[in-house]
Amino acid sequence: MDILDMSTLHLILEEKRVKHKIVIAADHGALELKNRLVEHIRKRGDEITDMGVFSEQSIDYPDIVKDAVEEFRSKPYTCGIVCCGTGIGVSMSANKYQGIRCALPQNSYAAAMGKRHNDANFIAFGGRIEYCEPVEEMLDAYLNTEFEGGRHSRRVEKIMKIEE
Ligand code: RB5
Repeated sequence: MDILDMSTLHLILEEKRVKHKIVIAADHGALELKNRLVEHIRKRGDEITDMGVFSEQSIDYPDIVKDAVEEFRSKPYTCGIVCCGTGIGVSMSANKYQGIRCALPQNSYAAAMGKRHNDANFIAFGGRIEYCEPVEEMLDAYLNTEFEGGRHSRRVEKIMKIEE
C-alpha cells in the first residue's frame, strides 16, 4: 500500500466525513450564540436550517423548540441544536417529545459521550453560561462522535420506553 502524506490523508478523511444536516433554534437568551454556531456549522461544511430567533424580542422557549422538533421530523436531519439562556428550558422542552434525546453538556467530554453512549439526537447550549471551553469545540466533539451501540442500545431503548 502506498504511504500517504498527511495533507492527502486529511483530504480523504474530510471527503469521507459524514455531512450533518442540522436544524437549530434559540430563544432571545441565546441569539448571539445561535448565530455564532450557524456560522461555525457553515464553515464545517455541514448543512444548517436556522429556525430563529432573529431578534432579541422576548419569546417563550417551548415555542421555538416545537418549531425545531417539527422541522427535524419533517426531513432527514442528523441532529438538532436548541439554545436558550441556560440551555435548561430548551432541553427540558425537547425531551418531552417522543423520539427526541436532548443532551445538555457541561464540556466537550460530556458532549461527545452524549452521542457515544446516549445517542443524543439533540444538543442544548446556554447563551448566558460561561463554559470552560468554546461552545464551538463542544459542538464539534458531539458532531464528530458516533453512537457506540452494543449495551448502550439497550439502555437507550429503555429511555425511549419510559412512560411511553
Ligand atoms: C429567558 O429569559 C430564559 O428564561 C431562557 O432563555 C432560559 O434560560 C430558560 O431555561
